[in-house]
Amino acid sequence: LTVPKIRARKTDGATGEPLVMLTAYTARQAQLLDAHCDLLLVGDSLGQVIYGLPSTIPVTMEMMANHAAAVVRGSYHAVVVVDMPFGSYERSPEQAFDSAARLLKESGAAAVKLEGGEAMADTVAFLSQRGIPVMGHVGLTPQAVNVLGGYAARGRSDAEAEKIVGDAKALDAAGAFAIVIEGVVESIAVAATKAVSAPTIGIGASAQCDGQVLVTEDMLGMFERVPRFVKKYEDIAALIERTAASYAEDVRNRSFPGEDQTYQPKS
Ligand code: KIV
Ligand code: NA
Repeated sequence: LTVPKIRARKTDGATGEPLVMLTAYTARQAQLLDAHCDLLLVGDSLGQVIYGLPSTIPVTMEMMANHAAAVVRGSYHAVVVVDMPFGSYERSPEQAFDSAARLLKESGAAAVKLEGGEAMADTVAFLSQRGIPVMGHVGLTPQAVNVLGGYAARGRSDAEAEKIVGDAKALDAAGAFAIVIEGVVESIAVAATKAVSAPTIGIGASAQCDGQVLVTEDMLGMFERVPRFVKKYEDIAALIERTAASYAEDVRNRSFPGEDQTYQPKS
C-alpha cells in the first residue's frame, strides 16, 4: 500500500471500505498485525504503553526512530506512519522538516503524524510539498494535556466543536493525506469527516469516519483501565499472568525443564 492509495480511500460514511489502522511498536507485533491493516501507527502512546511514562510529553526522537525502524522491519503491506514526538515540530516548519526527515531516514517509514489543527497547517503544507506525507490529528490531542487539563472528550461546546471542524479543514487544505479525529462528540466527528476531502480515522469519534484506529495493547486487554472508546477484544493481561504463574510453579517444583527441554549425550 502507498500513501496516495490511502488518500484515495474517502468513504461516504456508510458505504466504502473503512481504513484499518492499529498501533505497533515492535517488529514481531508488526508482523502479526500487518496483513490485517492498511496502516500501522508507531504512536507516541509507546511512552505510556512501553516505557511506563505518565504522558506522551517525555517521548524522545530516539524512541520514535528506533521503534519505527523495528516496525518497518516487520511490515510488508501496510503504510507505516510515525508520530512526531512533543517538542520536535511545533517551533517552525523548518524544525518539523528536520525532525520528520530524520525519522523517515532512520526508520524507512512512509509518513509522519503530528498533532494540532490550524496552528500546524503551514507546517503540514511545508512538509507535504517537500516529500514528507503528513497525517493530521485533531480533537483530543494528548501532547496538549497540560493545556487541555486532562483527557476528557472534546467538542461539547459550540465554540470547541467549531474549532475542531475548522482544524480538520485547515489540515485538509494544507495537504494532510489523512486526519485522525480523537475523543470528540460523535456529531462533530461526522461534521469534520464531511467537511474534508482527506479520509478521517476515528478513535473515540464515530463509525462514520473513513477509518478507525486503536492502541493494540488496549484492544488486546493489556491494561485494566482503558478509555471508554476502547473495545477490549481479548484479556491478554490475564493470559500473561496465568502463563507466568504456570512457569513459576513448574520451576519451583522442578518439573521445568523436563525431558523434552534438556540435552542428553547421543546414545
Ligand atoms: O499515539 C497513538 O497511539 C495515537 C493514536 C491513538 C491515534 O496517536
Ligand atoms: Na500519538
